[in-house]
Amino acid sequence: MVNIAVLGYGTVGSGVVEVLNTNKESIGKKAGDEIQIKYVLDLRDFPGDPIQNKIVHDIDIILNDEDIKIVVEAMGGIEPAYTFVKRALLGKKSVCTSNKELVAKHGPELLDMARERDINFLFEASCGGGIPIIRPLNSSLTADEIDEITGILNGTTNYILTKMDKDGSSFEEVLKDAQEKGYAERNPEADVEGHDACRKIAILSSLAFGNSVHYEEIYTEGIINITSEDILYAKELGWAIKLLASSKKEGDSFYAMVAPFLLNKEHPLYNVHGVFNGIFIHGNVLGDAMFYGSGAGKLPTASAVVADVVDCAKHLHRTVMSYWSSKKLHLTSIEEAKRRFFVRAKGAREELVSNIENIFGKVDIVQVPSLKGELGFITSLISEKEYKEKEEKLEGMISRIRIMD
Ligand code: HSE
Repeated sequence: MVNIAVLGYGTVGSGVVEVLNTNKESIGKKAGDEIQIKYVLDLRDFPGDPIQNKIVHDIDIILNDEDIKIVVEAMGGIEPAYTFVKRALLGKKSVCTSNKELVAKHGPELLDMARERDINFLFEASCGGGIPIIRPLNSSLTADEIDEITGILNGTTNYILTKMDKDGSSFEEVLKDAQEKGYAERNPEADVEGHDACRKIAILSSLAFGNSVHYEEIYTEGIINITSEDILYAKELGWAIKLLASSKKEGDSFYAMVAPFLLNKEHPLYNVHGVFNGIFIHGNVLGDAMFYGSGAGKLPTASAVVADVVDCAKHLHRTVMSYWSSKKLHLTSIEEAKRRFFVRAKGAREELVSNIENIFGKVDIVQVPSLKGELGFITSLISEKEYKEKEEKLEGMISRIRIMD
């Protein structure tokens, strides 16, 4: 029997307990031994819940118990998760976590601590919810040099954008719905301002490129400025607006960013709707690969955490290697990156079009019949820097969205 402890009985922690109960027998067979939850750490009590007899309020009970071989961290946030995880690893207990904040900030240090002790620090659930993506990067894709990862990595914002597009719902209504369904972060700003996707692309890029991508250095824009009018233009074009997190290697330069993009129907991420996530990867020998599935929520996330528990149980005295050094990866500024932009501006049509063409040269005009006194246009391929300079000259400018070609 392999005894484990779960830290936190919130959405993910209670999901882990549920998954281990639901699939107890098959999980035991796959792990080669029965997985038994001995403790659940939480500040609260759960009278009437069968978990109550396992609840402890003192982390030392878990850390001082030599029977505990694996600790699941499902508390979220940096502290006290960081301190508890370090202490568990120091005590030669493997750790599995879904905590993207913790992994993005302290991943290489915690991996080193595990490696030095022949145990494991695994975090499959930190990116893409239930989608296997960390393990493929660490094992199935090791023959490749990865040169691009582009993904829809936040279920909450994809759910919001999909609902705005399909039902014309307002941003606020859908956010509330996503919170009730257990998709959103405790502080939903982390979702809608892009920070959650930013941490996830930092983790995936660090694993793909081998050195540490500091999430604080990734250019990040959320979806808070996307309006129902923007969605109408996207529909007029037959395109969709998606919050993308992307990192690319071009020669010796590495770029990373998070922002809403307009995607056309041919793009592999166009059909990723609702709470689903999709991650597109390009490798120099593999070519393209796509990973798709449930990106957030209690059971999908718990499924990925429990798969890590099984992996830890199979490798109790051996580290499953991952390639993520603490050496910092230098990111090139996105200023030089070239793309097309969709821009909205208000004014009298004739004067506005002539103004736009004076500044941007030849553009494609887009008109939504129900939106009076404004129009949209698509620029040719220009750098971010060039775009910004031109935008400053445009009177009546309303908003702009980048285009992913
Ligand atoms: N709030 C996150 C999301 C949860 O919506 O994707 C899963 O990491």
